[in-house]
Amino acid sequence: MKILSIETSCDETAVSLIKATGDFPHAHYEILGNALWSQVELHREYGGVFPALAKREHARTLVPVLEEALEEAEEIKDIEEEAGGISAAGSARLQTLLEREPNLADALITFHKKYGTIECDIIAVTSGPGLEPALWVGVNFAKALALLWNTPIVAVNHMEGHILASLFDADRDDQLSDITFPAISLLISGGHTELVLMKDWGNYEKIGQTRDDAVGEAFDKVARLLGLPYPGGPEISRLAATARKQSLPEFAPLPRPMLRSDDLDFSFSGLKTAVRYAVQGKVNAEDREDTLGCKELTDNERAAVARDFEDAVTDVLIKKSCSAIEETGAKTLIVGGGVSANQYIKRALEKTLLTEYPDVECFFPQPGLSTDNSIMIALAGHARAGNALAPNGADVILADGNRSL
Ligand code: KG4
Ligand code: ZN
Repeated sequence: MKILSIETSCDETAVSLIKATGDFPHAHYEILGNALWSQVELHREYGGVFPALAKREHARTLVPVLEEALEEAEEIKDIEEEAGGISAAGSARLQTLLEREPNLADALITFHKKYGTIECDIIAVTSGPGLEPALWVGVNFAKALALLWNTPIVAVNHMEGHILASLFDADRDDQLSDITFPAISLLISGGHTELVLMKDWGNYEKIGQTRDDAVGEAFDKVARLLGLPYPGGPEISRLAATARKQSLPEFAPLPRPMLRSDDLDFSFSGLKTAVRYAVQGKVNAEDREDTLGCKELTDNERAAVARDFEDAVTDVLIKKSCSAIEETGAKTLIVGGGVSANQYIKRALEKTLLTEYPDVECFFPQPGLSTDNSIMIALAGHARAGNALAPNGADVILADGNRSL
């Protein structure tokens, strides 16, 4: 089965063409084409993702990204004569579907005239959770392609995509890893922090979540406080590593929020505030010039703050994951989402599991599959291929709104 997958839930525009041989979850996946356009540079000046800009950028880049993925897959060739016809009625439907993105509609019609129908079995598209305006662009684009190519659509849950991406194993013949149930998934991204119990494939029960900020959001906010660019996770992590290397002294004792609560919930907003108070306290106490703080910290102090913050987050993530394993008797821990790219958290979590729960197998995504991408959407689309919607019905709605798994 050939799957065209589209991801636009946040600030990455991504399209892939994947060939799945066999049934989920034992299929072999061949990545025929994969293209991604990251908007991070554009959002940097806002210190986070600016939804209206994200939507506009998705609309601008979807056709070029699609073209790049299909070129890599050798599905399209630059042809002189017009390849794909489109009736006046078809064109009118497409314009209506993409009426809020007239430039996208025009670009797609030009693309279709040039290349004609691309053969694939399903179009998988992220339908939530994510930024609503951004999601709509991707969903409407998928509907337009479904109409043009007469291909069914599969609406995909972004978080299911993150879980499956963490199991994708290029060293094992591009298959999903075999896992033992029950499994726990720790999903840590810019928008979500949750613990999900999986009793089987496709069977999800959320057993813990953040009550305020997501962990990636906390990384981004603390980075901003320290004057570091967006996205903050990799920057904090880099500074924290230098602080550890130099054994810099603790900048400030930071709380481990909800470490001892008897549930599996998280809270990161207080930790972020504690960082701000610690920084401001230091600057004020020493009467440094800028009472707003971070810019007046020395490089070593900033590195120490980054390390102290990363340590606090790591302690909480480890403790809650262990509690979830304890409570559910899980045999597998799957860590996914953008923050799972953090090598310090990965090593610390793996080390704890090895000593405390040696029977629990732990999975992290391969490089490039932690942050948002469209390979994960193809995997989830394959898992849900049975739920395909007819192209002409094409009535995909934002199934989850902002709801996560
Ligand atoms: O999954 P993702 O790409 O987008 C959402 O679905 O939210 O996650 C993005 C988040 C950002 O907050 C970013 O700062 C964080 O992942 N992130 C990291 C690292 N790399 C990305 N956080 C900590 N350490 C990293 N190395
Ligand atoms: Zn994500």
